[in-house]
Amino acid sequence: MPVTESDVLDALRPVEDPELHRSIVDLGMVRGVAIDGGVVAVRIALTVAGCPLRNEIQTRVSDAVVALDGIDRVDLDFTVMTDEERAAVREMLIGDPASTAGSNPTHGHSEGRTIPFADPMSRTRVLLIASGKGGVGKSSVSANLAIALAQRGKKVAIVDADVWGFSIPRMLGVEHTPVVIDDMLVPPQTHGVSCISMGFFVEEDQPVMWRGPMLHKALEQFLTDVFWDEPDFLVVDLPPGTGDVALSISGYLPRSEMYVVTTPQEAAQKVAQRAAYMAKKVQIEVKGIIENMSWFTGDDGKRYQVFGEGGGARLAEELEVPLIGQIPISISLRSGSDTGDPIMAADPDSEAAAAIRAMAERIDVELAPTRRPNRGLKLLS
Ligand SMILES: Nc1ncnc2c1ncn2[C@@H]1O[C@H](COP(=O)(O)OP(=O)(O)OP(=O)(O)O)[C@@H](O)[C@H]1O
Ligand SMILES: [Mg+2]
Repeated sequence: MPVTESDVLDALRPVEDPELHRSIVDLGMVRGVAIDGGVVAVRIALTVAGCPLRNEIQTRVSDAVVALDGIDRVDLDFTVMTDEERAAVREMLIGDPASTAGSNPTHGHSEGRTIPFADPMSRTRVLLIASGKGGVGKSSVSANLAIALAQRGKKVAIVDADVWGFSIPRMLGVEHTPVVIDDMLVPPQTHGVSCISMGFFVEEDQPVMWRGPMLHKALEQFLTDVFWDEPDFLVVDLPPGTGDVALSISGYLPRSEMYVVTTPQEAAQKVAQRAAYMAKKVQIEVKGIIENMSWFTGDDGKRYQVFGEGGGARLAEELEVPLIGQIPISISLRSGSDTGDPIMAADPDSEAAAAIRAMAERIDVELAPTRRPNRGLKLLS
């Protein structure tokens, strides 16, 4: 039996767009299939021109079609979707901003879209990584914890909510900026983690001068206009302190868990007060303390407590939550953050990576909410 057009479509149906993780057939990317003996010509419509993963799509399509009996060559050519087609893809993935109940289209696009993570049926655990003060390692912890969770087979995303001092793209070594389909952002993926950051929208050496409403709006868009695709975990790297951003974010994400990062030297009382103040103000539960820069293990195998000791344990006691991990000072953690080779990937056997891995396990297993939202209920009601 000669291969038919529908055989080719069947072969292409399991092929996923590498970024959208949906069938290229369902996304409407397959246009025109022509068969001439052992040669199949396929036209693929890319969602956007200059799609960074075009080569990957090419490989996937060719491999799938060549696997058909009697086909020995695939000729691919590419076209680009029209604005209307892109809008249809966006609508299929995150909905239509104008059609949601209660929306007011005159108020701009994201008004009608809801924050998927705020939905009581959402299966995503939102982990807010906070601290009383700056420079304690929130971003390093966020980036590496996210990778550690992904290494456990979880689907993980990270929002860099430090709008002014964004650092996640550099730490993760993200190579391309989000693809924009209609008004939907598709977060780039690195080390199995999808990520959105203000860093994608401004130059690294330019100050972000937004305040108040604009900032609020940007953060809201990070949650509503991004194709997050129901991750198991959304890690949120908060800016230091208890300012506007932290308050906005936690307002948007009422169902989150807060983890407070501290160093061993912190005066526990003060940090505890700030963390407790913030958590209370936004009615979010602090679930655990992460102590960072706990010690340095020298070549002699001895632990040097460079920044003192006990800060994490004292804070945990103060807030009556567990100390879920102690991360040693690590040169490869620091250098990995600077060069975009995160320690979880670059030096997974190191002491610091092991500490972060153990923490990820505790969060995933021990600290999992006991009553998971029952998604089946929605169907019954
Ligand atoms: N365990 C560690 N060992 C060595 N260096 C570390 C460790 N944790 C963090 N650092 C380094 O300390 C600096 C501050 O870390 P990081 O940026 O993660 O902190 P932060 O709390 O996010 O800071 P900010 O408050 O400015 O957002 C970085 O240079 C980072 O590489
Ligand atoms: Mg930071």
